[in-house]
This record gives sequence, structure tokens and C-alpha cells, in this order.
Amino acid sequence: MTSSLTVGLLGGSGQLGSEIRRTATAAGHRVAAPDSKTVDLRRPEQLTQWVLETKADAWINAAAYTAVDDAEDDVAGATALNVDGPRNLTSALASANSTAPLFYLSTDYVFPGDSGAPYTEAATTLPRSIYGATKLQGEKHSLVHPNTIVLRVSWVFGRHGHNFVKAILRGARRFAREGGALKVVDDQLGAPCGTRTITNTLLQLIAASAQPGIYHLTSQPYVNWHEFAVAIVEEGIVAGLLDKSVDVLTQPTSALNQKATRPVDGRLDSGKLQTTLGVEAPAWRDDLRLMLSELDANELDA
Ligand SMILES: NC(=O)c1ccc[n+]([C@@H]2O[C@H](COP(=O)([O-])OP(=O)(O)OC[C@H]3O[C@@H](n4cnc5c(N)ncnc54)[C@H](OP(=O)(O)O)[C@@H]3O)[C@@H](O)[C@H]2O)c1
Repeated sequence: MTSSLTVGLLGGSGQLGSEIRRTATAAGHRVAAPDSKTVDLRRPEQLTQWVLETKADAWINAAAYTAVDDAEDDVAGATALNVDGPRNLTSALASANSTAPLFYLSTDYVFPGDSGAPYTEAATTLPRSIYGATKLQGEKHSLVHPNTIVLRVSWVFGRHGHNFVKAILRGARRFAREGGALKVVDDQLGAPCGTRTITNTLLQLIAASAQPGIYHLTSQPYVNWHEFAVAIVEEGIVAGLLDKSVDVLTQPTSALNQKATRPVDGRLDSGKLQTTLGVEAPAWRDDLRLMLSELDANELDA
């Protein structure tokens, strides 16, 4: 059991940050998670003051420009948050002489997605989108701090915020009422990862004083988005969020006309993390079941 720590968290209102706040607080840690107006990653003076005041035992940067398609037309906005933001943060840590570990959340979008095998941490990066490119730059700026762990994750879902699971459930509830079928792409391969698993992993890495560097976190098994959607509908019925099943049809990514290119095969190899922590890769279906058991149907219809 780790003793009580002060965790400095940016992005505490986000999908992942909300879960980190909840779980870390429940574990007895003090979480200093200012909102983005009070401490804006783009404002060096705000960051410096916050770092000096907080004196955290661990820093977590879960704040980012995450609107993947918008970023294609808003390079300046994505750069300000995902590139300049991490640079501002590591400068603030340096000026405050903080050597506490910094955890930076990153993504499979740093990879091209055409290798045909899960990516290890040593694999060559080649982002295909502005989001992926800015997150990769953010990794490099974060790693300037001498005690940084970059944790790459993919297909994040959880109880808070907007995500694929809620979108599928909303669509399924509507089609169950009105008739019709969901259509989901089946030509992108990866792994969903629950915010609960990511949060637990961060806390385990802190407790283990893990070596700085890049780590991949993935849940199992690897799937395509269509297979994930089918599981969501199945578990939605079990959880009582859906009265009956709906058809889930396949479609190609090209049918979506998205601005940003996604990795066709963004599978991450998490062997290094498993060896470091002495754990097996978790099952995303467990996180899905837990999330759905906590979800109120009214939230989906709101
Ligand atoms: N979502 C995914 O599928 C996915 C996949 C791989 C990696 N990741 C990475 O995981 C991390 C968490 O993602 P998420 O899904 O939780 O993101 P999210 O829900 O979009 O949350 C983003 C957070 O960033 C904060 N933020 C925005 N502008 C800010 C600013 N100028 N200064 C400080 N904070 C600011 C937001 O605060 P406000 O609410 O106040 O704006 C919010 O708390 C990110 O680094 C993301 O790149 C996500």
C-alpha cells in the first residue's frame, strides 16, 4: 500500500482525468486538479505558480487537444495544447526544481498503423494525423524532464465524458425503439482501454517507482471497432441499459469521410509494462461491464 501522496493532475475534468481524481482520492491520495481556466497549459506563468504551490509527489498530464478531426483544420490550436503545453509544463518543473515523476498520456496515433504486428516502444513512429504528430511532439517535450513516463494508450472509454461506448449505446437504444441498425467500421484494429485500467496502471507505476521512459498499455483481446460495438450491445443488454438487441452491421472507414487518418492497425504491445509491474494484460470486457453497471440510462438519453 502506497502512503498518501500529493498528485498534481492536469486534465482532471476530462474522460480519463475524472477517473484518476475519483480513484486516487478514494485510495487516500490528495489530488490537486485545477480547472483549465485556473491553470491553462498554454500559460507558463500559471503552470509555474501551480507547480511551486502544489509540490506534488507525482505529476500527471492528462490534458490534451483530443478532437482528432478538428485538429486537421486547427493546427495552431492543437499545437498550443499538445506541443507547447508539455514544453511549458517541463519548463515549470525545471524552474521549481521538481524531480517528482511526470506521467504523460499518449496514443497509438503516433504510429502509422501499417506494420501488421503490435507496436513495441522501440518501433518507429510516423503519425498520419495532426493530432498524432502533436502528441508525439508532446512526448518529446515531456521526456525532457528527467523522470518522465510516457504511457501510450488507445481507444479510451469510461464512465465520464464522451466516448464510443456511450455513442453505441445511444444509437442502439434509438434503433431498438425506432427500428434500424448500427453501422460500425471493421477495418481498424486495436484495443479498447478503460479509464479504470489506465488509472490503476498509473497508480501502480507510481507505487513501483518505475523507470522513466515510454510504456505501452493495452487491454485484451485485440479487436476491430465492429467487434467492440457488438460486445457493447451484448453487455448493454446484460446491464439493463438495452431492452433488446439491435443489428450491428459493418462498414469501411472510408464511409465515414473523416478528416484525420487513423491507424489501420494501432495494436500496442504491452509486454514491457507487464514485465515491469508483474501483471497480465487486463481484459477490456471487465472494464466495460463495470462501466455499464455504473451508468444511468438517463445519462444516455440526456
Ligand atoms: N480519448 C481517447 O480515446 C484517447 C486515446 C489515446 C490517448 N488519449 C490521451 O489520453 C489523455 C486523456 O484523454 P481524454 O479522453 O480524457 O481527454 P478529454 O476528455 O478530451 O479531456 C481533455 C482535458 O484537457 C483539458 N484541457 C483542455 N484545454 C486545456 C488547457 N488549455 N489547459 C489545461 N487543460 C486543458 C480539458 O479541460 P476542460 O474540460 O476545462 O477544457 C479536459 O480536462 C490525453 O492526453 C489524450 O491524448 C486519449
